[in-house]
Amino acid sequence: MIIQSLNFEDYRNLSHLLLLPDEGVNVIYGQNAQGKTNILEGIWLLSGNKSFRGAKDKETVKLGESKALIKAGFFSENRDQELELCINNGKREVILNGVKKPLASDIVGKLCMVVFSPEHLSLVKSGPAERRAFIDSALCQIRPKFYETLKNYSQTLSQRNALLKDIPEHPELLDTLDVWDWQLAVYGVNVIRMRMNYVEQLCKTASAYHFGISETREKLELVYKCSFDVGEYKDTDVLHKAFLEALSNSRSEDISRGFTNVGPHRDDMEIKINDTNAKLFGSQGQQRSCVLSIKIAEAELIKMAVGQEPIVLLDDVLSELDSRRQEFLLNKINDRQVFITCCELESVKLLKNGKSFELISGSVC
Ligand SMILES: Nc1ncnc2c1ncn2[C@@H]1O[C@H](COP(=O)(O)OP(=O)(O)OP(=O)(O)O)[C@@H](O)[C@H]1O
Ligand SMILES: [Mg+2]
Repeated sequence: MIIQSLNFEDYRNLSHLLLLPDEGVNVIYGQNAQGKTNILEGIWLLSGNKSFRGAKDKETVKLGESKALIKAGFFSENRDQELELCINNGKREVILNGVKKPLASDIVGKLCMVVFSPEHLSLVKSGPAERRAFIDSALCQIRPKFYETLKNYSQTLSQRNALLKDIPEHPELLDTLDVWDWQLAVYGVNVIRMRMNYVEQLCKTASAYHFGISETREKLELVYKCSFDVGEYKDTDVLHKAFLEALSNSRSEDISRGFTNVGPHRDDMEIKINDTNAKLFGSQGQQRSCVLSIKIAEAELIKMAVGQEPIVLLDDVLSELDSRRQEFLLNKINDRQVFITCCELESVKLLKNGKSFELISGSVC
């Protein structure tokens, strides 16, 4: 997928902006508060998702105006297409190839993207919930079946937790717990297996990128960690049995706490650099490179699943990276369209191919 033209009208501080991007790497540079992240955020909204900054749609309209417009001409599925997103009084309206779509979410999948912004460093720095959310949302994009399985698991988990809370007052309910355990294990094992497969694939691709970005000095490893012992053999039946056993072992604690203590809702993905935990021992630059490698690998897996290259948006990734890592990033991932923002002109000079745009107060000079 390639964006050929971009138009912003009254989107944050981008009053009128036209960009004609390169098919490869595009660097948007300028001083702080000029609108660089606004451009990436606007492009990201065309993927049909919410802002990666956590902003509400109405906040993205230029102050004092009632509507904002983002328009892109792009090449996908072997043809030129056009997508228009209008944010009018806080509501999204989308027009794809001249046809107004009933729902704003109808455009999901038309322009696939992967975004990295400084907030995404939480993937390494924060707790397991952030990493689970990352795997789940990545899987939902490429395996629609996963969304259903995860929903079923979450619903069953809520029902089991409600039952656990009722048991102390109604001990007769204890007999029904076995049925819930069985059902929870059926959905849970599917969630675990799909996540494990994804992490395995992600690890292969991400470690190859990381090897390159660190000039072969660092080995990146991603390991899916189950909240219960699954042993070596990860066959469905074995996992199901192990999950049931873990539920049975934690039953008395579950009842006293009114909560299920084991299962995929407690799993994690360990991120290791040269065999040590990146969260505990990684430097700022290593952690940043690590998340970048994971994000680029995510793009690669999307390509394998949907058959088209997603667009990569990298906000402010170059700071904290030494010049060799910056050079790798600017020149070695040009087999897909990339938009990178940065403040330093020095970084722009490292770009061999592609286009750079200097942004001053929301306008390109
Ligand atoms: N709804 C809005 N209307 C008008 N201006 C806005 C709106 N939302 C944000 N801005 C302005 O956009 C500017 C920030 O843009 P942005 O975050 O894209 O900067 P940046 O170039 O990425 O800066 P940095 O290098 O610090 O990350 C701020 O000056 C802010 O006041
Ligand atoms: Mg910014």
